[in-house]
Amino acid sequence: MKPMILGSGWKMFLSDSEALAHAEAIAAYGTEAQGVELFVLPSFTALHRVTERLAGSGIRVGAQNMAWAEKGAFTGEVSVLSLKEMGVTHVEIGHTERRELFGETVATIALKLRTALHHGLIPVYCFGENAVEKRNGQTERVLAEEFREALHGIGFEEAQTLIFAYEPVWAIGVAQSAQPEEVNPIIGSLRSVLAELYPSSKEGSEFRIVYGGSVNLDNFPKLLEQPHIDGLFVGRASLVPEHYAEMVRQMTRKAAEQR
Ligand code: PGA
Repeated sequence: MKPMILGSGWKMFLSDSEALAHAEAIAAYGTEAQGVELFVLPSFTALHRVTERLAGSGIRVGAQNMAWAEKGAFTGEVSVLSLKEMGVTHVEIGHTERRELFGETVATIALKLRTALHHGLIPVYCFGENAVEKRNGQTERVLAEEFREALHGIGFEEAQTLIFAYEPVWAIGVAQSAQPEEVNPIIGSLRSVLAELYPSSKEGSEFRIVYGGSVNLDNFPKLLEQPHIDGLFVGRASLVPEHYAEMVRQMTRKAAEQR
């Protein structure tokens, strides 16, 4: 049985001292979460202290981005080697804000995925259609095309370690998330796309696919019920420690039911 996944992206919402205080607060709730892979993604500058604070808590720590190269003349970038030294386990790659605001392309995403996998980090690979693509009924085609490029050269075994984060661009940072019943078949069709790319796969069931985009305590239970969803990736709503703790509780319950 795959563990369920609960990711929390802190974006650039917290200063370093606020990030540490938040880490203290969520650790204080106790994070015994059997059967759930928990990870949080603070800013680069907070990684060191947050990783130290959360060591042994059951909550793993990831970065929000990284360079595709290991070392060299890449001013302003952060190397996978530095992340590894800090004890970081996950790295977010290709978030829509990186693509839209900082010019990240599928070509660089593909390079970063390979670098992360090569060094044993778990990539949290974010992708999703935009509003126009959704309106034109192109979701599956657009995402299949991206997968072909982004996953090129990544083997079946490695692809199973990835966390695929389906985050429709139109559902991020807004009041309302995508409807849970609408997300489930899309994730189902992504499993078929992956099964075509990886013929040894059993209908894409091995792949770890989470949903992200305006997840909050209200829509959390309904999203959790959807059979194709392996977990949830939460932004703003996870910055309230009590809400985060409640999400951990609900997901732990769900994971226990599935065992
Ligand atoms: P949100 O962010 O939950 O605040 O919409 C989600 C994300 O960007 O991953």
